[in-house]
Amino acid sequence: MTIVTDIQPETRAKRLKAATTAAHEVVDTTVMSAQPFASRVNYERFLRFQYRLHRHVEPLYAAPAFQPLLPDLAERSRLDALEQDFADLGLTPPAADFGPERPLAEALGWLYVVEGSNMGAAFLAKDAAKIGFSSEFGARHLAGHVEGRGLHWRRFTAGLDSVELTEAEEREAEAAATRAFNHVLEIVRQEML
Ligand code: HEM
Repeated sequence: MTIVTDIQPETRAKRLKAATTAAHEVVDTTVMSAQPFASRVNYERFLRFQYRLHRHVEPLYAAPAFQPLLPDLAERSRLDALEQDFADLGLTPPAADFGPERPLAEALGWLYVVEGSNMGAAFLAKDAAKIGFSSEFGARHLAGHVEGRGLHWRRFTAGLDSVELTEAEEREAEAAATRAFNHVLEIVRQEML
């Protein structure tokens, strides 16, 4: 008889979600408390936060070694869309450094957080539309993929779940996802509060 003692969710994507649900809640509440869609000025602050986050993770989206593991990884980057959003508004993006390259396990945690944010973006895109920003003007980075947000996300999590990691790396990916949310919170506070 097999005694099952591991009550962790069976997929990596679900484990990452479980490890970061509380952190997501704090980020969600903090972003919304800054009323990003209450005015154009507030929306510009929100764009600066998004731009800094996407600059930070761009080296992970672009890393040649990760391309075979995660479907369409380089094309998933929303950095170009953000640059277009700034151009639409007649603005220059803020100075923002690229973040570091990271080992695979850590990178998976960070990429989970930033790719997942495109799911919540469905709700943010609706609010942005109320102040005139859309997938064609000013809120391009919040747009869903042409194949649909859900399918695009499931294709990502299928790749994420298929990467072979050791137990130690598994924990590293979870810790990295939490650090990613902490980083998000820090730049939200700097740019939006
Ligand atoms: C006010 C801002 C936000 C709101 C209202 C929000 C809301 C949501 C909602 C409703 C979902 C679930 C979507 C679904 O399953 O259909 C979601 C998923 C997610 N969001 Fe957010 N979100 C916000 C900001 C963010 C930010 C800034 C990040 C990270 C950069 C983030 C990361 C994620 C992740 C990783 C998921 C996927 C969770 C999973 O199913 O594994 N969210 N968000």
